[in-house]
This record gives sequence, structure tokens and C-alpha cells, in this order.
Amino acid sequence: MSKVKRMDFQRLYSLKEIPATNYLTHGIHSYTAKLIPHIPRYFIEKYTKRGDVIFDPFCGSGTTLLEARFLSRNAIGIDINPLATLISEVKTTPLDIDELSLAIRLVKEDVKNSNRKLTVVFPNIDYWFCKKARNELSRIKFSIESLNGRFSESLYRFLLVCFSSIIRKSSYADPRMAKTYKSKRVIEKVKTGWVPTPIQYFEDSIAKNFEKIKAISWHLTENNNYVKVFQGDARETLATLKPNRMEEVDFIITSPPYINAQDYFRSYKLELWWLGLATPEEVRYLKKRAIGTENISGSNYSAIPKSEYRLLNIILNQIWQIDRKKSHIVYNYFEDMKSIFKEIYHVLKKGGYFCLITGSNTICGVQIPTYKIFSPIAENTGFKLLEISRDEIKNRSLPPDRNHNGGIIKEEWITVFRKK
Ligand SMILES: C[S@@+](CC[C@H](N)C(=O)[O-])C[C@H]1O[C@@H](n2cnc3c(N)ncnc32)[C@H](O)[C@@H]1O
Repeated sequence: MSKVKRMDFQRLYSLKEIPATNYLTHGIHSYTAKLIPHIPRYFIEKYTKRGDVIFDPFCGSGTTLLEARFLSRNAIGIDINPLATLISEVKTTPLDIDELSLAIRLVKEDVKNSNRKLTVVFPNIDYWFCKKARNELSRIKFSIESLNGRFSESLYRFLLVCFSSIIRKSSYADPRMAKTYKSKRVIEKVKTGWVPTPIQYFEDSIAKNFEKIKAISWHLTENNNYVKVFQGDARETLATLKPNRMEEVDFIITSPPYINAQDYFRSYKLELWWLGLATPEEVRYLKKRAIGTENISGSNYSAIPKSEYRLLNIILNQIWQIDRKKSHIVYNYFEDMKSIFKEIYHVLKKGGYFCLITGSNTICGVQIPTYKIFSPIAENTGFKLLEISRDEIKNRSLPPDRNHNGGIIKEEWITVFRKK
């Protein structure tokens, strides 16, 4: 295995180049386990040139896509979470600022003047939102919808992202936790008379995001590069990209989900429901398809799962002694990632580079050095390992997990491969 380089990616860039992790439109909406922009910036600059096509099969909220487009590259992203693909699209799409100013004025007036009552309903809505929040959120949603068709689709999506960004804050769910749940802290806050003000939050969100989108719009319209985002399963990369004639990319850079650490569908179910991006049944389905899911089928875990990788087998064995199901979850995770490596290998051009950003997590007290397991899997797929670097996580938004199932992820490992 190659020598590991210790890096501090944040220190490589001056404040003029990257003033904060939420600069440009990176801060338009929060997203769990979002990358710091410095890492994709560094590797995109190192391994690609203007006009190249960059692909992220787990694009999340679009950090790599935005950095790619900002650096005059083309970018393609896939993510299974429809909220993630919406944020990615909005973050990377320039808008007509005059049109946007008019739409914002209209939507604000409509929200103030309308007295529509709640019609958005989903399971346990009154467990999550007080009556005032439900009514105000409904009014905002209807006002945004009333603009649909009158302005560009991108502008409508921008308003939806602003709306989405205030949902958690307007609910009883604790905004400090990754999972959607009512904590003692929030219950106490409600007892002391806290009442959410969604219309005010919405106005603040559009004011903040207007400035962000305005600042990048001129820059992004200056080049002819594109960003294309697909909602789908990375295990079906080829089937997604081929019909769109995008099956040959120059560079792949991605940060896959952590094993068992983040349940994106539990985290974002309120936003998905309010925005109408997925019904509760669809959320359940997508959750099963997410990589690293705890939702695995089968109830008999009597046999220790066995892979063709020695280090992985040692880990599976250790976990199985403590929690049989968890050991199968870990096994499934690596099997799924194996099939994704095969898919992305097909879409990368010969000699192209593949940059993988991973954390090491701890399951049942057993440390899993994910990159050490990924490297031989990638090499068996046909990639050649070129370099490994390590960075300490300072800013990545990883809120504490209530059950600490996923373990604390303190550092990031970046491995770069080349397609042979
Ligand atoms: C660590 S996050 C990526 C964060 C991203 N780099 C960012 O900066 O926002 C991993 C992503 O993988 C997505 N994901 C999980 N299973 C997937 C699958 N089967 N296909 C595609 N995306 C998946 C999750 O929805 C999540 O957005």
C-alpha cells in the first residue's frame, strides 16, 4: 500500500480563494456529511482541465458539482435522495436575477395576503408541527406553487430549496440531530413558550440565498459548461448515463455514504413530504435502496458473512460475535460498493482518475478502516492505486447520532486510482 500523505486541505487555500465552507452557493441548504469544498477543489485542479467531464455517483447536495462548474468543468451527479438532487441542481444553476427579484416580491406578497388553510397532510403531521407552523408552511408552499409555470423551472426550484431549508427549524424535531426526532431539549423549549415563525424564516432564507445565487450567476453564465443531475441508484450508473450519451467521463470524485452512520431518509423525511418529493411509501422504498442501510432483508444471521477480502473477513467476524445483523449490514455495504466500483469503472475513460473520499467508522466498537478495504476492491475492478492522503475532519456537518451506531468519524481518507 502507498505511503499516506498528511494533508490539511483547508490550509491550502487562502481566504480569498475559499473564504468559508459555505461560500458561493455551498451554504444554500444544510446537508448531512457534506464535503468541505477544499477537497474536491484540490483534486479537480490536480487531475482535470477546463471542459473535462467530472462525475460524482453520490453527489449529495452537490459540493463537487458546484466546484467543478465553478472551475469551468462539466459535471454529472447521481443521488438516490430526491432532496439531494434538487439542492444540487439549484446550487449549480445560474438564474436571471431580475426575474428572480420579481418572483420573490410576488411570492412574499402572496404569502402575506393569502389565508389558505392547511391541505398538506402526511403521517403524524401534528406530532411534528404546531398548528401555526402547519398553516404558515402551507401558505408558503401554495404561494410558491402558484408561481409554477409563470417563471422558469430553475427559479421555481430555487424557491422550493429556500422553503425546504426552513422546515426542520419550523418543526418540533431537533435541528441539532441528524435523525428527525423530538428531543428533551425541544420539548423543554416548547414548554417555555417557543413558537416557530415560518414566514419570517422563509423571508430570511430567500434574502440570504438571493445574495448567494446572485453572486455566482454571473460567473456560471460566463462559461458554457453544464451540470446534469440524476435522481437514481448509483448501482445503475451505466443505465442512467448511457441513454443520455454521458457514459464516458474524464474524472470521478465521490464521497460514498458511511456504513450505518446516516439514514438520509429518516433525516429528511419532513422536507421530502412537505415538498412532495416522495410519499411515505416511496421514502420507505428509497431507504431500502440506500447504500449502508440497516434495512436489510432476511432474519437469519446464523452464518458469519464471508467475503474474498482478508481484512474485511476479520472485521465481519469480530462484529458478528457482538451483533450478527450488524455484521451482515457491513458485508452488504461492501458488496454494494463492489458493484458500484464496477459500474463507474465502465463510465470512466481509459487512463482516467478516480478519487474516493471516505471516513473510517466504528461499528459495535470495531474500527473499520474503510479505505483499506476499498483499495483492494478497486484494484480487483481494474483500477491502479496512485496516492493516499489523510485529512482531519473539522467542518463536515456530522451531527451526533442519538444511538451512536455509526461511530464518530474524525478523519477523512482520500485515495486516488487510475483506470488501467
Ligand atoms: C456522504 S453523502 C455525499 C455528500 C456530498 N458529497 C455533499 O457534499 O453533499 C452520500 C450520499 O450518497 C447517497 N446515496 C446513498 N445510497 C445511494 C445509492 N444507492 N445511489 C446513489 N446515491 C446514494 C445519499 O443519499 C447521500 O446523499
